[in-house]
Amino acid sequence: MSNPLDNHASAEVAARVERRWATLMVAFVSLLVAVVVFTGLHWAMMPPSRVELVNPETLHVSGEFVESNLGSAVETDGSVTVRILAQQYSFTPQCIVVPTNTPITFRATSADVVHGFLVTDTNLNSMVEPGYISTFRTTFDKPADHLMPCHEYCGTGHQGMWAHVKVIDKDAFMQMANQAGNSARRLSCVK
Ligand code: CUA
Repeated sequence: MSNPLDNHASAEVAARVERRWATLMVAFVSLLVAVVVFTGLHWAMMPPSRVELVNPETLHVSGEFVESNLGSAVETDGSVTVRILAQQYSFTPQCIVVPTNTPITFRATSADVVHGFLVTDTNLNSMVEPGYISTFRTTFDKPADHLMPCHEYCGTGHQGMWAHVKVIDKDAFMQMANQAGNSARRLSCVK
């Protein structure tokens, strides 16, 4: 027979252990919430909240995703818009050129199935869906070469689907843009 004093002591131990576990779990959940808030605010990682539609069947024929309009364009406010078309199994353009220290807006859509849009070493990471225009804004602070692989399985040629994002000095980029003239020509680094 155990004596009542022992029972009392073990009940206290049990309560203490339970309190510790509860504290640990609350701390763990708080940490996860903090990570979500941090990545959301600091890296601006959040699901796109706007829906812009486009007809995937007429992309090649008319509208902003016709071939001659793909690539980088300098806007009147000095920002740069990059239009990208994803289709099995490539991105157009294959080599995207953008300036440093300039607000860049990527606008991408797919002509066929769901593709992935990821620029390595940046916070750009999303999906490109047929029927929708995906928009991402960013600024690159230094010249660099980033890979842009499709990271959403899109068929047998998926692993070969990728492009480059070449970030060049702002002055060099603007010089390129001036040379291209005021024509509707878009910039890319496709040789
Ligand atoms: Cu496109 Cu995977």
